[in-house]
Amino acid sequence: MKITIRLIVSLVIVVALVALAFSLYQVNRERDRLAGDLERRSLILAESFQESLAPLIQSSGDLRLKRIVDRFGNRERLKGIVIFDRQGTVITATGSLSLNAKRPSAQAVNTILENRSVGNFLTIDGQQTYVFITPIAEENNEAVGALAMFYDSSYIDVHLREIWKHNLIQFMILSILVVFATVLVVRWSITGPIARLAEWMRDVRTVRPDTTGCDVPLRGDILSPLVSEVTELAQSLSIARKRAEEEARLRLKSESLWTPEGLKEYMRTALKGKKLFVVSNREPYMHVKEGRSVKSIVPAGGVVTALDPVMRICDGVWVAHGSGDADRETADVDGKVRVPPEEPAYTLKRVWLTKEEEDGYYNGFSNEGLWPLCHITHTRPEFRQEDWICYQKVNQIFVEALLTEIESEEAPLVLVQDYHLALLPLLIKKERPDAKVALFWHIPWSNPESFGICPWRQEILMGMLGADLIGFHIQFFCNNFLDTVDRFLESQIDWEEFSVRRGEHRALIKPFPISVGFDEGIVGPKEPQDRATLRETILKEIGVQATHIGVGVDRIDYTKGIPERFRAIERFLEKYPEFVEDLTFIELGAPSRDHIRKYRELIAETEEIVEKVNRRFQTRKWKPIVFLKALHSHEEINRYYKAADFCMVTSLHDGMNLVAKEFVVAQSDHSGVLILSQFAGASRELRDALIVNPYDIEEMADAIKSALTLDVSERRERMRRMHTIVKEHNIYRWAGKLIGELTHVRLADE
Ligand code: F6P
Repeated sequence: MKITIRLIVSLVIVVALVALAFSLYQVNRERDRLAGDLERRSLILAESFQESLAPLIQSSGDLRLKRIVDRFGNRERLKGIVIFDRQGTVITATGSLSLNAKRPSAQAVNTILENRSVGNFLTIDGQQTYVFITPIAEENNEAVGALAMFYDSSYIDVHLREIWKHNLIQFMILSILVVFATVLVVRWSITGPIARLAEWMRDVRTVRPDTTGCDVPLRGDILSPLVSEVTELAQSLSIARKRAEEEARLRLKSESLWTPEGLKEYMRTALKGKKLFVVSNREPYMHVKEGRSVKSIVPAGGVVTALDPVMRICDGVWVAHGSGDADRETADVDGKVRVPPEEPAYTLKRVWLTKEEEDGYYNGFSNEGLWPLCHITHTRPEFRQEDWICYQKVNQIFVEALLTEIESEEAPLVLVQDYHLALLPLLIKKERPDAKVALFWHIPWSNPESFGICPWRQEILMGMLGADLIGFHIQFFCNNFLDTVDRFLESQIDWEEFSVRRGEHRALIKPFPISVGFDEGIVGPKEPQDRATLRETILKEIGVQATHIGVGVDRIDYTKGIPERFRAIERFLEKYPEFVEDLTFIELGAPSRDHIRKYRELIAETEEIVEKVNRRFQTRKWKPIVFLKALHSHEEINRYYKAADFCMVTSLHDGMNLVAKEFVVAQSDHSGVLILSQFAGASRELRDALIVNPYDIEEMADAIKSALTLDVSERRERMRRMHTIVKEHNIYRWAGKLIGELTHVRLADE
């Protein structure tokens, strides 16, 4: 209301000033016009006297003068006439004139002397009077007297007052119109939209379900610049509310939901302003050349999937091997680059390795030695002395890169990732005993017998035990690890606390089941299409006609059970021929570690099986397996997850397997079915999946049949339960628990 009043007052003042100026101008002009009129009339009258008056004054014909004066002295508005002699003395005057008018006049003398007429407005006896004095001249133009005419000029004032009155009325009408127009415009364009906006915001605040679409009721209004801001605000509010509801719900179950915001807040307290340092072999963003340009890609694998969302929140430095062919040109002289490229949130520090170092450390010792050693997949580990030397050397290179980064950091928190860097914890502690170091082992830990075949088992165990905290995905791997330490190292094991003490140092061994983010699940699917439309689009893209889709997403690795999966598809079609031309299984396989013979052989074997199965069953418009061998982005993969009727995770041995969890997250409509290997760590949490033994082809074929024929309500109920589990046990919880535990670790000298 205040703004309306202010607007009205300002407009009325402006109108008043304009009206006043205009009226003054008009009144002045009118006064001048009327005065001119009187003067003209006086002159005409005077001229008509002139000739007869001069001789009469000369001859002192007072009587005749008196008669003339009386005859002319009572015309319209002419109150009277006075005739003066040369000295300004009254010779004769109209009788009805007041005495004041009949006095000798200096003005008359001046007129005679200057021989020119003059007109003035005077108040005589309280009456507005126009007095016109003109000289009376002889033929030789010499003035012999003066003639004064007295007009009643009060009609001019009356007329001017009329003008004022008239303009005042105009001003008042104008003001009323201005008030009306202002009120209407303000209401339509300002207070109306604001009121609608306020009502809509109240609805959003008080959760009227139909407002969650966040459609602001303003279009093309004066407030439209606010629309996008307010929409964003409403969306954030809606997300925050959903999260708060989740939190409240879970709080009742005495565990609150970990969210990006929650983790951020938690980290602020736990890290007390310190940065977080992550060290891993694989970098989260790799720059590669594509023709003349450079593009950034996200490598496949659990480490990146899990830790990138955490680092985006916590900031800090991630030290990793720069393995992209455009990595050097995109980093600074220290090998640093801010990532993610599209929205930088933390620093990636790249470590450079020679081809020989990469061969010995990564392809050799890590992936031909430790990888098969830890995975029981009947692939024989190969241990070569030169690889081991390289492995030690590269661990040293990584530690040096890290030490530079943590140089100025007091009691830094370091998260070392995976089997490539088993020696790092001890190397860090030797230089920086004040650092709190956690090692997270992303792959399984088999058992003492299997591990025992490694010629450098003690060095590896000692390197790992340099950490204050060692994390595995599940308790089973922790047990295996302690058994192994017990078997091969002189140490003090506390089975109750699950720790290993060597000298002054104590390492805690704990399970931290890794997971994925759950933002999308909370906010709702980003993919606007429904499952059927999406499925149709994808089938069109791959050029196949089918009714159902199954999906597999893997880094092409012999631990993932990909050939076994395809054999199960073959058996399924053999056993249930009614699904021929009905189901197409799409495998999104990212090539990996292709410098290792086993991996190249695996790709060849996989392609061979695909070809065999397709040749056996395919028809003109349909084929059973589509093998898309490429690195797919998370967005692309997500489309397949959302379109698929089921997903197959058939690892022969797997630490956790995040594909299983990603698929669950993508099922916002709870419709898909997960077929999951009993040998993947994820099977401990996702008990509502169809759990299979990937070595049992018959069982897997039947699981595919179940996935396609499960009762809708059971399918939904199973997925809903898994959805809740992954939502609650998400990556933010993993990071919060791991880092929280690390910050609580007490170092020997504390
Ligand atoms: O999950 C085990 C792991 O080795 C991770 O370290 C890595 O993220 C993933 O597999 C991919 O392996 P690579 O880095 O050899 O491509």
